[in-house]
Amino acid sequence: MIVDGNAPQAIAQAANTLAAGELVAFPTETVYGLGADAENDDAIANIFAAKGRPSDHPLIVHIANASLVVYFASSVPPFAHALMNAFWPGPLTLILPRRAGVAQASAGGQDSIGLRCPAHPVAQALLHACLNLSSGPVRGLAAPSANQFGRVSPTSAQHVLAEFAPQLLVLDGGACPVGIESAIVDCTRARPVLLRPGMLTAAQLERAAGVPVVPAKAYDPTAPRASGTLEAHYAPRAKLRLMDADALQSALDLLGKDGKAIAVYSRAILRCASAAVLCRRMPDDAGEVARQLFAVLREFDAAGVKLIWVEVPPDLPEWAGVRDRLQRAAAA
Ligand code: TXA
Ligand code: MG
Repeated sequence: MIVDGNAPQAIAQAANTLAAGELVAFPTETVYGLGADAENDDAIANIFAAKGRPSDHPLIVHIANASLVVYFASSVPPFAHALMNAFWPGPLTLILPRRAGVAQASAGGQDSIGLRCPAHPVAQALLHACLNLSSGPVRGLAAPSANQFGRVSPTSAQHVLAEFAPQLLVLDGGACPVGIESAIVDCTRARPVLLRPGMLTAAQLERAAGVPVVPAKAYDPTAPRASGTLEAHYAPRAKLRLMDADALQSALDLLGKDGKAIAVYSRAILRCASAAVLCRRMPDDAGEVARQLFAVLREFDAAGVKLIWVEVPPDLPEWAGVRDRLQRAAAA
């Protein structure tokens, strides 16, 4: 059931639903999340079941403000404080040592916890309503992206409803303004490690952290697992292939008039002899592509294409998040 997330009575209803141990989907600036009380183990079990996600994959806990960090985390290194000050509320998740006995199921049993303070006004309203419940505070909402495990993240309320039972309460906050998931920085080691790139660039993170940020590629495989770091993830149903513009044009030339059940998403303007090939222009701005990427992949799937050919985005820092999601989609 989709309700207007800007209506105060919808926020109150959602907060009461969460306090009762049920799930609520809500918008964030990155993607929609499937939320539950981070400290209610039964509710957390329902998230894993609804998503078909293995229960040892930790969830991000969303908090209203940075003062709640000390409730969930046992220690916060100076560079993590610096990152919070610079980018919260916003599209950044920090992995910190978990305070013993808190949100164990949310953390998938890890001794660390992922914390994020989202900027979206509907998420903020919901988190504040949860803190101020007359039945007692719900201090954090564990929320993975509101999609079936391994699939494309939702950037609209309609995307969410398409993946879950119609009874699920979905707060509608419109299209997500960032469009791909938060950057995740592991702050449990001597140096920050970028586990998942987002729309904040490595250079921005490094400048704010005041110390070098170790890239995900140098990532230690014994580190806590992150499903967003699984090779194959964020996949549409159609098979996705990344190519440069020349290879894409050659492939289209080879198809000639026979091409069908194929979608193309490219910055270059390509010649295509078949009217049945679905061509979609990729904007030149990385932020714009991030905003529309998951909706475009869902549209292609809805059109029933079997193949999605995507022009590989430039190897530039501002494109790192989009390239990462496309590479994982192509690996599926
Ligand atoms: O933008 C986002 O981060 C969205 C919105 C809803 O906030 N959430 C999101 O959640 O993308 P999810 O569950 O789809 O991806 C969270 C990632 C997973 O790869 C998970 O394994 C990782 O964060 N993660 C969470 N807690 C962790 C921990 N303690 N250690 C390592 N990785 C962790
Ligand atoms: Mg996800």
